[in-house]
Amino acid sequence: MREDGAIGRGVIAIDGPAGAGKSTVAKRVADSLGLAYVDTGAMYRGITLLGMRSGISPEKDEKKLAELVRTAELKFEARPEGLWVYLNGEDVTRAIRQPEVSRQVSYYARVPSVRQLLTSLQRELAAAGGIVMEGRDIGTVVLPDADKKFFITASVLERARRRQRDLVQQGYRVTLEDLVREIEERDRLDSSRAMAPLCVAPDAVVIDTSNLTVDEVVARIVAEVGVL
Ligand code: DC
Repeated sequence: MREDGAIGRGVIAIDGPAGAGKSTVAKRVADSLGLAYVDTGAMYRGITLLGMRSGISPEKDEKKLAELVRTAELKFEARPEGLWVYLNGEDVTRAIRQPEVSRQVSYYARVPSVRQLLTSLQRELAAAGGIVMEGRDIGTVVLPDADKKFFITASVLERARRRQRDLVQQGYRVTLEDLVREIEERDRLDSSRAMAPLCVAPDAVVIDTSNLTVDEVVARIVAEVGVL
C-alpha cells in the first residue's frame, strides 16, 4: 500500500477460467507495457502442493491446513519469466504444474484462511503499482480499484485442446475427454465456491479468445489500456 493507503497506479487485473490463455496473454501484456507480472494461480498451486505433501485434506482438516500455511516457508518471487515459487527453500515452480496439483487446487482454493492469506499477499505485491495480476478474483475481490480489468475466456473444448498441447510439451499424456471433464469440474468448483467465486467484474472488458491468436488478444488489451 502507498502511504495514503491507496493502491498505486498502473494496475491491470486479468481474470478468467482455467485454460483460457490468461497466463500467456498476461505475461506478454506485462512485457510490452514494461510492468511486473504476477500469476496468482501459482500461489494457490504452491499451497496445494504443500497440503498434498503434508497429507492434509482441505475438506477434513481446515484448521490443520491453516496452521500449516501459517508456519510453512512459502516464498514467491516475481520474475520477468513468471512467478517463482519456493517451499521451505525448495524451488517448486515446476512441481506445482503437475496434473495432480491441477486436479486438487480448486479444493484448497476454497478454504477461507488460504484465500485470506493469499489475498493480502497479492495486495502487498500490487501496492507499488506497475503490475499485471492474473487470476480468478483479481478485478472483483483482490484489486477492485485496478485501473483496467479484463476477463479472458474461451470455449471448454478450445481450452482443453490448449491444455493438452501444454501438457504434451511437458511430457505428460492426457486425453482430450479427460481434460474437458476436468476443466468443467474446475469451472464448476471455481464459480460456485462461497468466497471470491470466479465471476466477471461489472467494469471488466470481456474477451473470448476461442478464435483469436495470442497476438490479437495482447494487441486488444494493450490498445484498451492506452496510457495509464
Ligand atoms: O490459473 P491456474 O489454473 O494456475 O489456477 C489454479 C487454481 O487456483 C484454479 O483452479 C483456481 C485457483 N485460483 C483462485 O481461486 N484464485 C485466483 N486468484 C487464482 C487461482
